[in-house]
Amino acid sequence: MQKNIVQKKLSNVDAFYDEISKSYTGSIQRCVPDYNEMLKSLFIYINPDFQPKTILELGCGTGNLTQMIHQRYPNATIVALDISAECINECKSRLSSANIKYIQNDFKEIEFPNNTFDLVLSSISIHHINDKDKELLFQKLYRYQTPNGVLSFCDQFSGETDFIYNKHIERWKKYAVEQGASNDEWNMWMQHQQEHDYHSTLANHLQWIKNAGYKLADCTRKHLLWTTIYAEK
Ligand SMILES: C[S@@+](CC[C@H](N)C(=O)[O-])C[C@H]1O[C@@H](n2cnc3c(N)ncnc32)[C@H](O)[C@@H]1O
Repeated sequence: MQKNIVQKKLSNVDAFYDEISKSYTGSIQRCVPDYNEMLKSLFIYINPDFQPKTILELGCGTGNLTQMIHQRYPNATIVALDISAECINECKSRLSSANIKYIQNDFKEIEFPNNTFDLVLSSISIHHINDKDKELLFQKLYRYQTPNGVLSFCDQFSGETDFIYNKHIERWKKYAVEQGASNDEWNMWMQHQQEHDYHSTLANHLQWIKNAGYKLADCTRKHLLWTTIYAEK
C-alpha cells in the first residue's frame, strides 16, 4: 500500500503559477497526455437536457477549460476562480464576456450561498490542496450546488500502490519526452509536484464525494494519473 505521506508543503503555489502563466498553456499541452481529450471528457457524461444557468470553475488557470465551458453553455453565468492573479489576467485577456466573473481566491477560503451552482467543473487543480482540505471542499461544493446539480472534474490521482503510481509517472515521462518536453521542463514539473501536489487515490476521491452527500459518483475516464469524475447531487 502507499506510504502515509505527511501532507505539509510550501504554500506559494500562486507564485509558481504567476511566474509560468505566459508559457503555461503550451507546456501543459506538451506534458499532460491527451490534455484536450481529457478536458472534453468533462462534458461527455453530462446529459444534453441538463442546461446549467450557473457554473463554478475551480482553478481556471489561463482559461483552457473556461473557453470550452463558455462555448458549450454561452448563456450561463460562469464564476472562474483561481489563486493566481497572473493566470486570471491571461484568462481575461483571452475571454472577455459579461457572463464570466473572475474571482482570485484559494479553494480553502471560498464561500458561496447554498444552492448557487447547477454545475461545478475543474481541471487538474484540486490536487493542489491536501486530502483533508479536499474532503472539506467536496462538502462545501455539495452545499453550494443546486438540487440534482452536477460535479464534473478531472485531476491527477495516485495509484492504489506505490508500484502503480511510479509506473504511471515513468510512462508519463516517456510521453512528455516524446512530445518534445525538455529535461528542464520535465524537472520543473517534477519539482512543482514535490512542492505543490497532493495526489490521492480514485477510491478516496469517490468516498469523499459520496460522504459529502452526492447521490452518485463515478470515474468516467482514466489514463495514468489523469482521472475524470462525474457526480450528481
Ligand atoms: C495545473 S493548473 C490547471 C489550470 C486549468 N484548469 C487547466 O486545465 O489548464 C492548476 C491551477 O490551479 C490553481 N490553484 C492551485 N491551488 C489553488 C488553490 N488553493 N486555490 C485556487 N486555485 C488554485 C493554480 O493557480 C493553477 O491555475
